[in-house]
Amino acid sequence: MPNKLIANKTANKTAKSQPVFIQRYIENKDEVRAELQQGLLARAATTMPKYLYDALGSRLFEAITELPEYYPTRVEASIFEQFLPEMAAVAGLGHTLIDLGAGNCEKAARMFETLRPAKYVAVDISVDFLKQALTTLQRQSPDFPMLGLGMDFSASLDLPSEIGTGSRLFFYPGSSIGNFTPADALLFLRQIHIACKQGAGQGGLLIGVDLVKSSTVLQAAYDDALGVTAAFNRNMLLHINQLLGSDFNIAQWQHRALFNTKLSRIEMHLDATEELTVRWDGGERKFAKNEGIHTENSYKYTVESFSQLLKNAGFQDVKPWQDAKQQFCVFWAKA
Ligand code: AVJ
Repeated sequence: MPNKLIANKTANKTAKSQPVFIQRYIENKDEVRAELQQGLLARAATTMPKYLYDALGSRLFEAITELPEYYPTRVEASIFEQFLPEMAAVAGLGHTLIDLGAGNCEKAARMFETLRPAKYVAVDISVDFLKQALTTLQRQSPDFPMLGLGMDFSASLDLPSEIGTGSRLFFYPGSSIGNFTPADALLFLRQIHIACKQGAGQGGLLIGVDLVKSSTVLQAAYDDALGVTAAFNRNMLLHINQLLGSDFNIAQWQHRALFNTKLSRIEMHLDATEELTVRWDGGERKFAKNEGIHTENSYKYTVESFSQLLKNAGFQDVKPWQDAKQQFCVFWAKA
């Protein structure tokens, strides 16, 4: 794993309306290439979902959240809308709000008024996208302390001291936790639990989790009629071409999504529509017709199974809020 990170501070602390921004990136581009090559050369080829999010990928994901079939974002928003005052009552006010996978920062911004955070820390791997979003947000609230962190927290939640010593409220919405296997999710939640304990006062976690439901509804959400999810998935190959210098021709790749009931996860794949070879500097991979690359998993939980996971990670006082159709769940978990 390439987790040797260096901090490159591109902060401008003096100018108002400019958020402080810290970029922690993978030091060695060769390590990204090595990681990609290793996945592509495996017998069953895989890539990591983080490579879905270049600038275009982040925009395509935004578009996904507006699709009629993709219910998670809308349903989660309705849960927050309905229960936010209750959430604020159990979580308390005045925390440092740490937004993991902040994206366009909209979800967190909607909570400011009710949660009254003392500080906002937005973390995302899509650095330029995050910078733009946070700069816009900072202009709207010039005196509210904001910090942007460009980093990949999926391997390790290695937060810089600039976050400060205030009590920590982690915000991990959108069922992004679904990208981890349940075993890795447990390890990640443990890291959040430890990070909560490092702040002052009583911290905790607000997390959005997609629930198990009919395969038809799930599959439609990941294979929409308009083909936006297909574009999102296939765009990863363009991103990989940039990172690896490979020659993927997206015309030869087809999107496929399925619900694996046994493992309780949506799987996204890209399948070769013909026999082909992908080449890059230092390697190549042959694909048979219909051979796939496994690009993403999105695990689905029950309220019970995820509550148990939170408790196993060290959290207590777990409280779930669901929509009426029980499609999605937001949990509060006290550190
Ligand atoms: C951002 C990981 C929560 O799994 O639903 C959406 C990503 N992939 N459509 C999800 C995604 C295809 C999304 N997460």
